[in-house]
Amino acid sequence: VAVEARKSDLEGADLASRLATEKIDVSLTVRPEQSGSLHPISQTIEEVVAIFGPMGFEVAEGPDIEFDANNFTKLNFPPDHPAREMHDTFFLPVQEDGSRHLLRTHTSPVQVRVMESTKPPIRILAPGRTYRCDYDLTHTPMFHQVEGLAIDTETHMGHLKGCLIEFVKAYFEVEELPVRFRPSFFPFTEPSAEMDIGCSWSDGELKIGAGGDWMEILGCGMVHPNVLKACGLDPDVYQGFAFGMGVERLAMLKYGIPDLRRFFDADLRWLKHYGFSALDLPSLSGGLSR
Ligand code: PHE
Repeated sequence: VAVEARKSDLEGADLASRLATEKIDVSLTVRPEQSGSLHPISQTIEEVVAIFGPMGFEVAEGPDIEFDANNFTKLNFPPDHPAREMHDTFFLPVQEDGSRHLLRTHTSPVQVRVMESTKPPIRILAPGRTYRCDYDLTHTPMFHQVEGLAIDTETHMGHLKGCLIEFVKAYFEVEELPVRFRPSFFPFTEPSAEMDIGCSWSDGELKIGAGGDWMEILGCGMVHPNVLKACGLDPDVYQGFAFGMGVERLAMLKYGIPDLRRFFDADLRWLKHYGFSALDLPSLSGGLSR
C-alpha cells in the first residue's frame, strides 16, 4: 500500500510540474469527459411533474407487468369486451389458477393500486412505460404515458377542466391557448372527453396556439362509479377525475421531433441534438425548458 501511495504521489507531483512547464489547458485535463444529456422522454416527464406538483399532485408508480384485473376488470372493462383486444395487449402465459399477467397497456392500473391502498383525498400523477403490440410510423410497442387521478368528496368536472387548461398553457408556454373538450368514451370514466388544443399548419410546419386547426392531446373524464366500487371506495361518498396522455406525443409536439421511432434508436447524434442539460431541472419559476 505504501509503495502504491508513493507512486501516485509521484504521478501527482509529476502532473503538477508538467502543467506548470508545458502550459497544458487545465480545463481539458481536469474535465476530459463529454457531458451527457437528458432524453426528451425524461425531460417531458419532469416538466409535467413540475406543473402538476404545485397543484398538489404527487408521483405514484406501478409495475410494468400487471394483473389482468388491474389493467382491465377493475377499470370496468367487461369480460371479453372487444376493448381488451383493441388495446393490442401483450399477454403472459396463463398460470395454473387460470389467471394471466400482461404488460400494462396504459398507466390507468396505477389508479386502481392507489385507490386500493390510500384513503382519499387522492391526487397522484403516474408516469411510466406502457406496451401495445403495434409498430408503425406513429406507434412503438413500448411507449410512455402520464396518468393523473384526483379523488375527493366534491371534486367535479370543473376541477378537471381547470387543472388541464392550466397544464397545457404552462407546458406549451402559450398563454392564450384555445382548448376544447370533445365527448369520448373510456370504460373507466363517465362522462369521458378528449381534450384538443388549438394549432395551425403553415408550410407543413405546426404551430401550437390560436389557428384554424385542433390537435388531440389527452383523454380524461370523471372516474366511473364501478371503478370506485371495484377499488373499495363508496361512490356515494367519493368522486373524482382522471386523465391520461402520451409522453412521446407531448415531446414531439413541443420540441418539433418528427419521427416517433427515433426515440428508441439510442443514436448518440439524435440524443445530442434533442437532449437536455441534466443539471437544468424544469420548474415553473425557473423555466420548464432551455
Ligand atoms: N388510459 C387511457 C388510454 O390509454 C387514457 C385515459 C386515462 C382516459 C384516464 C381517461 C382517463 O387511452
